[in-house]
Amino acid sequence: MEQYIIKGGQPLVGEVSISGYKNAALGIIAAAVMTDETVKIENVPDIGDIDILLQALVDIGAKVDRINRNTIKINASKISTVDVDFDYVRKIRASYYLLGALLGKYKSSKVALPGGCNIGSRPIDQHIKGFEALGAKVKIEHGMICAETENLAGAHIYFDCSSVGATINVMLAACLAEGQTILENSSKEPHVVDVANFLNSMGANIKGAGTDVIRIKGVPKLHGSEYSIIPDQIEAGTFMFAAAATKGNILIKNVIPKHLEAFTAKLLEIGAQVEEFDDAVRVKADKRLGNTHVKTLVYPGFLTDMQPQMTTLLAISKGTSIVTESIFENRFKYVDELTRMGASIKVEGNTAIIEGVEKLTGASVTAPDLRGGVALVMAGLMAEGYTIVENIEFIERGYERFEHKMQQLGALIAKVDSTDMKAIKKFKLKVS
Ligand code: UD1
Repeated sequence: MEQYIIKGGQPLVGEVSISGYKNAALGIIAAAVMTDETVKIENVPDIGDIDILLQALVDIGAKVDRINRNTIKINASKISTVDVDFDYVRKIRASYYLLGALLGKYKSSKVALPGGCNIGSRPIDQHIKGFEALGAKVKIEHGMICAETENLAGAHIYFDCSSVGATINVMLAACLAEGQTILENSSKEPHVVDVANFLNSMGANIKGAGTDVIRIKGVPKLHGSEYSIIPDQIEAGTFMFAAAATKGNILIKNVIPKHLEAFTAKLLEIGAQVEEFDDAVRVKADKRLGNTHVKTLVYPGFLTDMQPQMTTLLAISKGTSIVTESIFENRFKYVDELTRMGASIKVEGNTAIIEGVEKLTGASVTAPDLRGGVALVMAGLMAEGYTIVENIEFIERGYERFEHKMQQLGALIAKVDSTDMKAIKKFKLKVS
């Protein structure tokens, strides 16, 4: 099994370029099957979750050409089945976007119930409610969600909660429904907007994405398009926090600063410096940072996917901080591992109470999920001595060339096989 070995204590310094947004790319790639014409997508992140979704597309008959690391062409004119029943599909949550996309185009779809990161119960009742409102019959049978109808008709849908997944999924199907659909209490996240922009570039008629009311006028069919995915706000946020955590100085390029405002505000509040440019931000810190209170919220609030990185940064900041998780109930699994590195954090229900310590010390830890895993790497970069992070496949699901980008910034990190004692020894010799 591969793992990261890290020697902590090195400030991260230099420049890093952010990849395309995983969570937007997943919706956009699923949407690409909705036309028979070829779609070219640029700035696609080269990560595990995308490989899985592309494999699913190939396995149902789409043609996928990788032009280069970050550009793909998809042609879905020869889809041979709407039955997406492959074991690997359960590994990613966003496979359920194929449900909305195929339902829109073929009026029938069947997708293995998704899994994804185990960060709490992740119901799909709002997706189902939306499809049913559009006229589909939806049932769950033998671990599959099946949606079917003779005809999709526009509807007025009020979501009970703001869900990124449900908003995108129902928006996909509604593009090819007859008449107008209105989605109220929609998610306003940047990737909802990006998927809507992509669909519009294919001839859809969607207005209001980015607000909580989205209006969709159904069109008979969609056409080919060329589109470039927005930068990943979570990858950018992770490097912003890593810069502050290691008392470093990083210019983070290819970002939309507006999408990072919630992170910027917290960093400034605890004493880091953030400078914004048109499409870049510089984050630096030269002292121990202060404490704060953070509550995860829907956009433009503080993103739940940045909660583990925030908690980790606060673990070595001065004073007592409180982090409240209001989106997913089980997103503090990494805290036990941080505690093993010397952090003083108590989790009570959905709240973490953090007593900042002077330093963390390296240990062998296990990534419990994607963002929790990356937070443990951050902890390793701040800690005294060596840290081993296991289960790094979680991290590779969502971060492109992660250890390379870190190494470019001066991080002492390597990916090694856990049984390859020679490689581990070589790393230790090199960095000692
Ligand atoms: C997406 C992101 C994930 C991020 C999350 C919140 C992708 C692939 N993943 O996940 O990284 O952490 O948004 O920003 O884009 N809910 C229901 N019923 C539903 C759907 C959701 O009750 O039918 C609840 C969930 O339990 C959760 C909240 O709504 O409490 C938000 O979930 P949602 O926005 O749907 O998250 P995902 O789309 O799964």
